[in-house]
Amino acid sequence: MLADWQVPSVNSPRKQLDERFARAFAAAFPDLEPEGDLVVAASNPQHGDYQCNQALALARQLKSRPRDIAAKVLKQLDVTDLCEAPEIAGPGFVNLTLRPGFLAQQVAERVGDPRLGVDPAPARTLVIDYSSPNAAKPMHVGHIRSTVIGDALARTLRFVGHQVIADNHLGDWGTQFGQLIVGWRDFADHDALAKRPMEEIKRVYQAVKEREEQDPAFKERVRQELVALQGGAPEQTAIWEELIALSRRYSENIYQRLGVQFDVWHGESFYNSMLAEVVTDLENRGIAREDQGAVVVFFDTPTDPPNLKPLLIRKSDGAYLYGTTDLAAIKYRVDTWNADLLVYVTDGRQQDHFKQVFQTARKWGYTQQSLEHVWFGTIQGEDRKPYKTREGDTPDLLALLDEAEERALAIVREKQPHLSPELQQRVARVVGLGAVKYFDLSQARTSDYVFSWDKMLAMNGNTAPYMQYAFVRINSILEKCGIDPATLCGPLTLDDPAERSLARAALELGDAIEETAATYRPNVLTTFLYEVASQFSTFYERCPVLAADEAVRTSRLTLCRLVARTLELGLSLLGIETLPRM
Ligand code: ARG
Repeated sequence: MLADWQVPSVNSPRKQLDERFARAFAAAFPDLEPEGDLVVAASNPQHGDYQCNQALALARQLKSRPRDIAAKVLKQLDVTDLCEAPEIAGPGFVNLTLRPGFLAQQVAERVGDPRLGVDPAPARTLVIDYSSPNAAKPMHVGHIRSTVIGDALARTLRFVGHQVIADNHLGDWGTQFGQLIVGWRDFADHDALAKRPMEEIKRVYQAVKEREEQDPAFKERVRQELVALQGGAPEQTAIWEELIALSRRYSENIYQRLGVQFDVWHGESFYNSMLAEVVTDLENRGIAREDQGAVVVFFDTPTDPPNLKPLLIRKSDGAYLYGTTDLAAIKYRVDTWNADLLVYVTDGRQQDHFKQVFQTARKWGYTQQSLEHVWFGTIQGEDRKPYKTREGDTPDLLALLDEAEERALAIVREKQPHLSPELQQRVARVVGLGAVKYFDLSQARTSDYVFSWDKMLAMNGNTAPYMQYAFVRINSILEKCGIDPATLCGPLTLDDPAERSLARAALELGDAIEETAATYRPNVLTTFLYEVASQFSTFYERCPVLAADEAVRTSRLTLCRLVARTLELGLSLLGIETLPRM
């Protein structure tokens, strides 16, 4: 969780009321420290916009009747500029109805602001380690999650005001390179490598594995090549470099299609020269010790969490491990960039690994930095097992992106036959890739989810196509109005309940960003955007915009502008493109 100073200070109407209530509670009950949000959305819109339920929550602690508590707080509460006179209802709820003028003024103030009224937080330096696939292996469907969640968090935290370093910690070092070097020599078709590198690498790797099982001498050759590579032999190093370059070109292609960028690609091999020193240093400080020839960090002091398994940092044959590299990377990131916060986006199976690494880092002295493992669940097929193709393979990410675009194209062709083929292609790309990303981001991060083309491409519901079309609809109103949308800034009159609900929803952008940043949960942002888009639908059904009288028309157009900008900004923080027309 980010500390308070790491997220933007939010000034939505709800938050402003919340702060007033906090002050009133403090004045009425000085010893009390109420927890959580004091003001929440009204459960029934007929009772107002917001409500405060704290009087009920605190009744037992204060040994007093909720209605009396509420009355005492209201005596201290000054909200006349924000809302109508608060009402105590039922057993002790306080109902709050915003003044239409206040809501109108809030919309007018924010609609033209480049940041839509969301103030930046004091800048800190964050490193986000995401995607990080194993080089020389095709990326598969599972890599979507780390790539897409990591990218959304990087974008959001940048918008929040932090200096974000996006680091692709490629698995570019490991025993598979022994096999690949022999494969390169014996089996590789270098034409195929140039044309379809990853398919060819995969084929070669399989061929080596098969041969190894039958031929012990061959297996020994593989081992020797690995030893040579690890010892820095020039020939083996040159082959390894070529393999890495090919696999990097392959993943760059995927990132380009997904619109994902990294600031640095410090793969595991980047840290090789630092590993020996890390181990020696941990040994010298008594954090690691020798155990049967290996070097191990034991978590057996009173300050260590219980039941944490020891972390092996050097094997008895002298080889270093995944965790050793992660420790070197922590040192590097803090020494080089002065990072305040290190975030790692991987699947849930690595939870123990990061607990061990983080605890070691704390013992090592990295106590001022926050270390966060942002983990996610698996993608499953309809059978609730890890998602597989009909042939039973793990779906290749590139093929999956192609399929997303093809499926979207079929829909666009059917629904929009009048569009030019080029535009249909473009729409299909934006909608298809957006659908895959949005579907992933809209899931509760730590849950598993079932991959479904039909659900992610649905035109209705909490999907990318729905959000993207909502944006297009609003845009088309703004295009038809004959006024430059950039000049629309009120004045507003928000008399219809649908206008009020829409304005209120859109003004909570900052709250959604704050919570997304603080909990590393992009689905907070998708839920917010879906709420705004749904409220827009209701508004649009009830409230004519272009046909309204001059004053109402200006007001509603301004509201439309706020909504369009909110959707566009929100989707962009998730890495999802919009088109003005489609
Ligand atoms: N390469 C690893 C994998 O594919 C993920 C690396 C995550 N980052 C890290 N610093 N350990 O599982």
